[in-house]
Amino acid sequence: MTVTKTHAETAAEAALHERPPAPVSKSDARAHRPSIVGPDIPEEPFPIILSGSVQRGFGRGGKDLGCPTANLPDESLPPMSSVTQTGVYYGFAQVTPSNDGQSTPLTSQDTLVHPMVMSLGWNPFYKNKQLTAEIHVMHDFRKDFYGHEMKAIVLGYIRPELDYVSREALIEDIETDKRVALNCLTRPAYEKFKQHTIFTGHPKL
Ligand SMILES: Cc1cc2nc3c(=O)[nH]c(=O)nc-3n(C[C@H](O)[C@H](O)[C@H](O)COP(=O)(O)O)c2cc1C
Repeated sequence: MTVTKTHAETAAEAALHERPPAPVSKSDARAHRPSIVGPDIPEEPFPIILSGSVQRGFGRGGKDLGCPTANLPDESLPPMSSVTQTGVYYGFAQVTPSNDGQSTPLTSQDTLVHPMVMSLGWNPFYKNKQLTAEIHVMHDFRKDFYGHEMKAIVLGYIRPELDYVSREALIEDIETDKRVALNCLTRPAYEKFKQHTIFTGHPKL
């Protein structure tokens, strides 16, 4: 059966996808970013818990940017609707083995809880058409981990999503994001989330 959309339905759908262009990152702003952001204790709506099986992105994160990212499937994103801003977030993530027998085996180091940065957005630099959540886990995975399960706790927000005049400028900001995230996560009220029950499987702290 073919369902024909009314003009009003089509207009409402278009409005949902309409968004103002992301501001362009300026070199001066990149050079003067704070090294730590946010409150000393996570505040509402954090922590936000996400989980899903790792999807293949476009693969540009690793190749172009030296920053491989794991994409979470659309079904795992509803918890992020409690934040209204696209942009860069930080927290912890853990990759756990799937039993599909297809995915590359993980080492014991791979399955620990690691700091992460997450880009939630439209990736204006690459002109993506779909909202994505891409997590860069700060650990040297020797092999890809597509198909395995990922659990993540998002604890804070770093900055809005920006557009870039060059790949180098985007890389510079991503490298700063990683340093900022590590500084933010060493605060005791954040660090304790490494032992959260979603990672340990044990009852809450
Ligand atoms: C910490 C971090 C910050 C990012 N910030 C931006 C950004 O501000 N603007 C943007 O267009 N893309 C940003 N990206 C997204 C990259 O463009 C994205 O990882 C890239 O599209 C690679 O995706 P792919 O591996 O699916 O190809 C960011 C990625 C990470 C990991």
